Amino acid sequence: MLPLLMSRSLWNLRHRYPLTRRQIFRHLALPNGGGEFQSGEKTLVMQEETEKQTARQMYVDIGASTITRLPFATLEPEDIAFFQQLLPNRALTDPDVLASANVDWLQNVQGLSQILLRPQTVEEVSLILRHCHLRGLAITPQGGKTGLVGGGVPIFDEVIVSMALMNHIIDFDDWQGVLVCEAGCILESLMQYVEKRGRVIPLDLGSKGSCQIGGVVSTNAGGLRFIRYGSLRSNVLGLQAVLADGQVLDLMTQLRKDNTGYDLKQLMIGSEGTLGVVTSVTLLCPPMPVGVSLAYLGCTGFPGVLATLCAARSRLGERLSAIEFFDHQCAHLVHTHLGLNPPISGEFPFYVVVEMVDSDSHEDNEKISAFFEEVMEEGHVADGTIATTPGKVKTLWAYRERIPEAILRDGHVIKYDICVSINMMYDIVTATRQRFADRIKNTLGYGHLGDGNLHLNISLTTPDPTLHSDLNDFIYGWTAKHRGSVSAEHGLGVLKRHAIGYSKSSDAIALMRRLKNMMDPKGILNPYKVLPSEL
Ligand code: MLT
Ligand code: ZN
Repeated sequence: MLPLLMSRSLWNLRHRYPLTRRQIFRHLALPNGGGEFQSGEKTLVMQEETEKQTARQMYVDIGASTITRLPFATLEPEDIAFFQQLLPNRALTDPDVLASANVDWLQNVQGLSQILLRPQTVEEVSLILRHCHLRGLAITPQGGKTGLVGGGVPIFDEVIVSMALMNHIIDFDDWQGVLVCEAGCILESLMQYVEKRGRVIPLDLGSKGSCQIGGVVSTNAGGLRFIRYGSLRSNVLGLQAVLADGQVLDLMTQLRKDNTGYDLKQLMIGSEGTLGVVTSVTLLCPPMPVGVSLAYLGCTGFPGVLATLCAARSRLGERLSAIEFFDHQCAHLVHTHLGLNPPISGEFPFYVVVEMVDSDSHEDNEKISAFFEEVMEEGHVADGTIATTPGKVKTLWAYRERIPEAILRDGHVIKYDICVSINMMYDIVTATRQRFADRIKNTLGYGHLGDGNLHLNISLTTPDPTLHSDLNDFIYGWTAKHRGSVSAEHGLGVLKRHAIGYSKSSDAIALMRRLKNMMDPKGILNPYKVLPSEL
């Protein structure tokens, strides 16, 4: 603990006074350390610590790349005083609070922010941004930190603006099924709220218990119901965002159709907090289905998985609400690391989860049974089970939803999230396994079958930047060759921003950069994310 505390003091001193590294050491050693720091050994330890910390302030290695700190202003006592006056008891500098706010869920990205701000109103967000814009202080908007590309945590000393306290439902229109809420609302609470009113939120994610709607919209999250309800881009009717200089942009329409000029909300959706901070959202919530049933199926090969998808599409039609797959390696980790017992007795190379919804629960049971019999008879599926009660549906979903958690317990994880033609989506898992067999602990494939969205995950015993870079070249190269996307639903954040060129042309990237420069001329909004650094 001591080196950490010393580092933090050094950090503060470094930014309060224009001292050299040697001066910082002297300054600290005399008043704070007294005689304790006079010994040669301790002096050396402190000096090394100081040097490491100063180096950490300048650059950081994340994934396979090194990032250099941009010349933003650093937090001064006057800034802290301003924030504490604006947000009494909500401008936090407590090291324990910051330790958690600085690190992402995957624990792959670790920032060094010195302050966490918890605004309660859009006016407060506006004043925070205005101050940061005038001062040239960088900021990181923060939701539930469940993103998988390090977009929601600082990289260096960015001011963290947490949306957690802006968690109120503003309005719900029963008749149209339109929900208006603040950005900090937890997805699962919103689900429960609208379900009581006969509606559903048009997306579902494994992280629903902690992710916030503002983060979900800012990252254009996909999830398990994409096949039924489509992208958030068509379900978000309006939003409110605060721009880099503090201006509040009100785009809170509730209209289903509005073709007047550029659709600015689409710029905010999926821009990962680099163009504005989303503060409120208007969301279209479709009617809640009466019956939900699910089939959990074991397949002996990927051709069987594809045939099951075709059968589900033709037999269930618009009732199909989710179709997911995962390989044996995923099932094994869910069993080993989470202790969940397999729902079917045999072991199979692949598993498929098919969910269907209906307006009549009786009809629902018949339809899913007929589908199950058909895929078994035709030999696409070797074994399976059906759930028609909410409890069993939930239990079976856990085997798919908790895969990311099981993989996280397997070691250091590298995540790929690609979209290619459905018929070839597993090829890259096999190819990666073959090529890197001796350097990898586990290679796992799962994902959103109906969308051609593969989550290829690699677990390693320890982080290995060289291997990470080799994997990037191989997997992104393969994806680009097949004209796929290197990030189907997770976004780019800090971990994937350098891969953007595999999926977008240099002209498109240049236009994105011009848009960013125009909307955020000082580059203070979530720096080091989405766009690659300009070398
Ligand atoms: C999922 O589909 O489970 C999420 O996108 C998370 C993940 O990819 O691990
Ligand atoms: Zn996913």
